[in-house]
Amino acid sequence: MSKLAILGGEPVRKHDFPNRKSMGRNEKDAALRVLDSDILSGFIAAGGKFFNGGIEVKNFEKIWANEYNFKHAISINSWTTGLQACVGAIGIEPGDEIICPPYTMSASATACLFYGGIPIFADIDPLRYTIDPKSIEEKITKRTKAIVVVHLFGYSAEMDKILEIAKNNNLKIIEDAAQAPGVIYKNRPVGAIGDIGGFSLNFHKHIHTGEGGLIVTNNDELALRARLIRNHGENALDHYDVQDISNLIGSNYRYTELQAAIGIEQFKKLKNILEHRQNIGSLLSNKLKNIEGIKIPQIEKDCTHAYYMYPIKFDSKVLGINRNTFVKAVSAELPIPKFWDTTPMAEGYIKPLYLNKIYQTKTALGNSGFPWNQNKEVNYIYKKGLCPITEKLYEEELIVSPLVREGISSKDISDFADAIEKVLTNINELKNNAYKISDQDIFDPIKAIEKNV
Ligand SMILES: Cc1ncc(COP(=O)(O)O)c(C=O)c1O
Repeated sequence: MSKLAILGGEPVRKHDFPNRKSMGRNEKDAALRVLDSDILSGFIAAGGKFFNGGIEVKNFEKIWANEYNFKHAISINSWTTGLQACVGAIGIEPGDEIICPPYTMSASATACLFYGGIPIFADIDPLRYTIDPKSIEEKITKRTKAIVVVHLFGYSAEMDKILEIAKNNNLKIIEDAAQAPGVIYKNRPVGAIGDIGGFSLNFHKHIHTGEGGLIVTNNDELALRARLIRNHGENALDHYDVQDISNLIGSNYRYTELQAAIGIEQFKKLKNILEHRQNIGSLLSNKLKNIEGIKIPQIEKDCTHAYYMYPIKFDSKVLGINRNTFVKAVSAELPIPKFWDTTPMAEGYIKPLYLNKIYQTKTALGNSGFPWNQNKEVNYIYKKGLCPITEKLYEEELIVSPLVREGISSKDISDFADAIEKVLTNINELKNNAYKISDQDIFDPIKAIEKNV
């Protein structure tokens, strides 16, 4: 039994995990093709031939739509703006309530605020980490207009149940599949199982173009509305047949030809990337599946996981040690990360969104309490305890690993699993010496990286 590295022993592995390398020859050639053409954007902010962008943008949208049978795919300059366009497209009015999960990137909820929608937080499923249908039902009022569903970490929410709730209550569904491109839920690709949704193409995602995103929908009217919002809809309303022109003051959310050309090459890699992540994700799951006190992702029949991050649920009662000490001990067995992508483990993921200042003080647009002040009869409270499952995951239970990705081999994943196993084998030694290890500071990979580079 070798001594734990955090207590002065030899670590399991000293050499760095490989970095992620996402761009190759094909992306370079594609970028050069666009630069040579001298047309870096094909959009014009007026109805007509150039309203929906140039050749590369249209091609990019077409190949993604065809592959997954989406009727419409609409590229966008980020998924944050994509979410905003979705909220505008479904016809949110100031004061409408939109049910969202609190355990997600902030944009999943702030998108509602831009149209005066009020985010209402529903708790999440403790094992799936996605919005809990039961909690959605509890939060529905006569003001509820929509649900934002986030397929967190690359695994789908329980869409069948959510579709039924939406149907029974006449609600729209926006799918935030930022972390789940190409993910399958009961044989259906996520993104447009609900009314409208989409993917992020930012630097950290499975495939990326630096920044960017893609809206998908099978609904013609929503697609047209989203396209109008993307490109100064106000200038194009005479050109298109739109019944309801609310929320169609557009913006400039346009994707460039350069991004789209790179995006086409990236998209060609998506299937292999997902396959690799699924292979090494299964390998890691096989190594961890019989450990008491640790819960790994469960994949249902006809569903896939994209492992944007690999989530581990840690039970400190069973293991007799707190999560933060455990993460520090495992991290000490492995090389210090130089980037987020080489960070073996991080705790907590994201602070429940409603604990952020904008919700605590109800200050979003202006200083009058808009949009919450639209419903004078309701006292919206975002206090601690609102979503206890999310809070417990954040504070005590959840560990995420970004190591399940391309560039990481079976051997790399085995080293990671060995580090976990070593700490668990020596858990008593860790418990006896835990007083020497601060459990206060959450291990912050960003600080560790800043110290190291
Ligand atoms: C769940 C989720 N929603 C929304 C976003 C925002 O996407 P983008 O960075 O492309 O604007 C992200 C990005 O991290 C995300 O993970």
